Amino acid sequence: MTDLNQLQSDLLKEIEAAGDEAALEAVRVAALGKKGSVSELLKTLGAMTPDERKERGPLINGLRDAVQAALAQKKETLAEAALGARLAAERVDVTLPVQEGPETRGRIHPISQVIEELTAIFADMGFSVAEGPDIETDYLNFTALNFPEGHPAREMHDTFFLAPDEKGERKVLRTHTSPVQIRTMMAQKPPIRVIIPGRTYRHDSDQTHTPMFHQVEGLVIDKQADIAHMKWILEEFCKAFFEVEQVKMRFRPSFFPFTEPSAEVDIQCSRKGGEIRFGEGEDWLEILGCGMVHPNVLKNCGLDPDEYQGFAWGMGIDRIAMLKYGMPDLRPFFEADVRWLNHYGFRPLDIPSLVSGLTA
Ligand code: DAH
Repeated sequence: MTDLNQLQSDLLKEIEAAGDEAALEAVRVAALGKKGSVSELLKTLGAMTPDERKERGPLINGLRDAVQAALAQKKETLAEAALGARLAAERVDVTLPVQEGPETRGRIHPISQVIEELTAIFADMGFSVAEGPDIETDYLNFTALNFPEGHPAREMHDTFFLAPDEKGERKVLRTHTSPVQIRTMMAQKPPIRVIIPGRTYRHDSDQTHTPMFHQVEGLVIDKQADIAHMKWILEEFCKAFFEVEQVKMRFRPSFFPFTEPSAEVDIQCSRKGGEIRFGEGEDWLEILGCGMVHPNVLKNCGLDPDEYQGFAWGMGIDRIAMLKYGMPDLRPFFEADVRWLNHYGFRPLDIPSLVSGLTA
């Protein structure tokens, strides 16, 4: 009798002392497993006389029930403690600041940013964006733009030529975005109002020239598009882009084979204290070439110059980016130096728009 009481009290103590589920399981096996102490006692019931069994049966079964109940209870306690520990370990403070991710660390290249800015400005004036390939035919880069064969203007462009193909045709890396004017006029009927941002290539390299650079072309073709419209558009663009109330622009006569008349445009600026400011000052800075589209160019695109006319311009994107953001040297633009990009780059979620302000 006492041995049962002793066993029960021992087992209950062991159960109480089990520190985790594995220890508890060991106690269970030792008591209720096939060869466990309680199981062995249960086995003795079979060999007893009915009277003995009547007396011992309830006691041994009672012992088993008590041990089982204690095991179940302890198991629950241990599970609760384990859950509590896990919750404490995995606690998250939702009030902590968000961790820096790629979307906050990465930077947008100033060229990409400026292309977004000028697209926003021209989109607001009703322009859409057109694109063309970097590898262009000699015909579209030069001939269709009214550069006569052998004309020195072709030389002025310091063209990169590709090896002739099987037909003997020698493609070029486009020297300007102007061939996309031709592509656009051949593909759609006027009225046309497009800007064409893109990469251009010339054999040239110094502080303000790189062999690959960027231009944005503008083209407007309609029945009455004239120089006054062009001046207004370019002025509005400069005010919006440089974020100034007023700009003074100077149209100087110039020559391009694809425009007649042609002009180069300077904008007034001040360079006091080594810093360029627009909308004031005594200096002039050239920013673009423009003109009325030459009748030969219209004809080359199947448009009747007696019915349609228009204007076009071409501007260096790298140049206006340098001016706006005070970057003195063009070459690091294309050196992929992360330190430069961290300094001059833009946060990815600062998307320029006319509503929120171009440069937030
Ligand atoms: N394509 C010229 C260049 O690369 C720039 C230019 C001048 C474009 C006059 C035009 C234009 O569309 O009308 O220097």
